Amino acid sequence: MKTYRIAVIPGDGIGKEVVPAAIDVLNKVALLDGRFQFEWTTFPWGCDYYLETGSMMPENGIEILKQYDQIFLGAVGMPELVPDHISLWGLLIKIRREMQQSINVRPAKLLQGLPSPLRQPNGFDFIVVRENSEGEYAESGGRIHSGQDEIAIQNAIFTRKGTERAMRYAFELAKARRQHVTSATKSNGITYSMPFWDEVFSEIGKEYEDVGKTSNHIDALADFLVMKPDNFDVIVASNLFGDILTDLGGAIMGSIGIAPAANINTEGVFPSMFEPVHGSAPDIAGRGIANPIGQIWTGKMMLDFLGYEEAGTHILNSIESTLTQGIKTPDLGGTATLREVTDAVLQYLESVYQ
Ligand SMILES: NC(=O)c1ccc[n+]([C@@H]2O[C@H](COP(=O)([O-])OP(=O)(O)OC[C@H]3O[C@@H](n4cnc5c(N)ncnc54)[C@H](O)[C@@H]3O)[C@@H](O)[C@H]2O)c1
Repeated sequence: MKTYRIAVIPGDGIGKEVVPAAIDVLNKVALLDGRFQFEWTTFPWGCDYYLETGSMMPENGIEILKQYDQIFLGAVGMPELVPDHISLWGLLIKIRREMQQSINVRPAKLLQGLPSPLRQPNGFDFIVVRENSEGEYAESGGRIHSGQDEIAIQNAIFTRKGTERAMRYAFELAKARRQHVTSATKSNGITYSMPFWDEVFSEIGKEYEDVGKTSNHIDALADFLVMKPDNFDVIVASNLFGDILTDLGGAIMGSIGIAPAANINTEGVFPSMFEPVHGSAPDIAGRGIANPIGQIWTGKMMLDFLGYEEAGTHILNSIESTLTQGIKTPDLGGTATLREVTDAVLQYLESVYQ
């Protein structure tokens, strides 16, 4: 039996609630499947750790994480006590950058049992491939002068290597799906980086003759995701555009609380990190009503990544069965608790494997 050593960082707020729920589900699948098991090691890193020690993770945190197969993270953030730029850059973004998790994969799909706020969702099912290491979120720029003369400069960095990597990842993904990639651009407004982005999309696209290609400006794309989301298969986007589009993806599914994500180290040199799209939701933390589906679906993405796609499909089916039965947390208009949703998912899984 294969054993996977997983580093667990529940983080802050509802991260501490949804991560144990998803681990229950993954352990159950492992037990029922019988081919693999998980060995979880939990690290108490996050804002509480920062308030005690002055840093979000220990100095050798990255070295510690390198010893694990993958990382399973909840959410970070305690904005009332720790500024967001400290909490996110001190842990989440540090891990993404230093472990070269250069691709962020975020699916959005109309789930059975969950009405979309859209009038005509038409069974949409798309995946956003977001460049995760550079672009508009590059640490390049500075601030000079003060008062009326103050200047802030933020450079967007687009390397050929990073851009090609994102494009290739998107095309490879589309080959195994419905064979279409849409590129999110803004070359009518951004004069250097986006025309470059378009050129690389066109060049890499030539390597994938059988895959359809469309380029949409980001403003039009935001409109299309609401008006005709079923038109999309794989969308490739820069760091900022992908970040925004995927919150929209969560919203049209019904709640940000169900949206999953994976940060992939494409070279396989470092662990990849699996974390839902949502944050630490301080407004509902500690009440047992957080929606665990985003974290559970993120666990399914980890299983897919490890090569157990059938087991992953069982998890998604269990989520849809739970929603179809009307067992929903308040963010989806229901009254169920996190525990009730998790138990329903576990129960359905038992029935699948019987
Ligand atoms: N990946 C991450 O760790 C991550 C991502 C986004 C935000 N954050 C951080 O989280 C903190 C709060 O940020 P925010 O309020 O902008 O975003 P958020 O995603 O935490 O919450 C936005 C809204 O969605 C709701 N929500 C989110 N997840 C939910 C779930 N699983 N179940 C039910 N409702 C859910 C919240 O209650 C809130 O009303 C900030 O510190 C922010 O920086 C972290």
